[in-house]
Amino acid sequence: MNKIYIASDHAGFEMKEAIKKSMNNISFIDLGTHSLDSVDYPDYAYALSNEVKKDEDSVGILICGTGIGMCLAANKVSGIRCANVTSVTFAELAKQHNKANVISLSGRYSSVELNVEIINAFLSSTFEERHMKRINKLDKK
Ligand code: RB5
Repeated sequence: MNKIYIASDHAGFEMKEAIKKSMNNISFIDLGTHSLDSVDYPDYAYALSNEVKKDEDSVGILICGTGIGMCLAANKVSGIRCANVTSVTFAELAKQHNKANVISLSGRYSSVELNVEIINAFLSSTFEERHMKRINKLDKK
């Protein structure tokens, strides 16, 4: 299986741990954080994004309070297409239409069950090549 990175800040830490426990059939590569101590989400978004950028078959899951800060930071890294996802349909579309290689999730406003469904939908969806022209425009910026 391709590499699946996961990282969170303190606000996403408990969600990250719950997701790993619930999806124990998947070997997530956990880039932290490893406690509830306060940290800065950009540090974790950049660390994960730089790993995903190195290996085009890999994907990443980022979690903060809302998912918004992680998404903003991840999209600063060239080659990263991160979508902040709060529904299964958007998880599918982020992969099918936007070729998202990272999704960001909410640790505080989504349930573990929903986030697990979102991750499964993201991992099992495939990019639709007809959208490639738009992805090339995104990646050129
Ligand atoms: C941390 O308190 C919180 O601001 C952060 O996790 C995130 O939600 C930012 O977008």
